Amino acid sequence: MVKSKKQVRDIFCSKLVIYPGSFDPLTDGHINIIRRGLAIFDKVVVSVAHNISKRTLFSVRERVEMIKEVFKNESKVEVDTFEGLLINYCRQRGIRVILRGLRTVSDFEFEFQMALANKQMEPDIETFFMMTESSYSHISSTILREIIQLGGSGKGMVPASVEKRMRKKLGGVK
Ligand code: COA
Repeated sequence: MVKSKKQVRDIFCSKLVIYPGSFDPLTDGHINIIRRGLAIFDKVVVSVAHNISKRTLFSVRERVEMIKEVFKNESKVEVDTFEGLLINYCRQRGIRVILRGLRTVSDFEFEFQMALANKQMEPDIETFFMMTESSYSHISSTILREIIQLGGSGKGMVPASVEKRMRKKLGGVK
């Protein structure tokens, strides 16, 4: 169903956007997307997924704590969690825009599928994509976990507070 200009304007004028993800852990790449999102939307709700299909390093509570720590002086960032379908959470919160970052071509296929599935289930919700800045396009939480575990530095990839927690968990020598 094609939306009228007014309908599209209404959606993006909702000023509230959700940035969902596993954030296991939050990286500088995620932070970059959140900060750029703040330049467009009034408020970014960073919502940590209780992702049953992923074995995570950090608990949901720990992931929330780390994000809150990084954005403690940013009143326009809210940190929350969600379980189940993302669109149900969006409906409950009255959120109509989902923010996602695109790093590489390989991200595109998965993101495209997700955006279309979400749209089919809830036509009133739009997905807003941002290209990840090139300095972060190679970063993923998995790569970071490996670097830290093997004693490498996470500088320029992950906030120092998060790196410290990772080192504690993974026991990387440094
Ligand atoms: N910079 C750096 N890394 C980034 C990044 C960025 N800008 N954006 C994503 N990543 C990385 C993450 O670190 C993560 O790395 P990993 O796989 O090594 O852990 C990877 O990209 C994917 O992470 P993320 O963006 O968090 O996606 P996800 O697959 O973990 O989560 C959900 C996707 C939670 C949004 C999605 O599964 C969902 O909506 N689930 C709810 C259930 C639902 O509604 N399902 C139907 C959807 S169609």
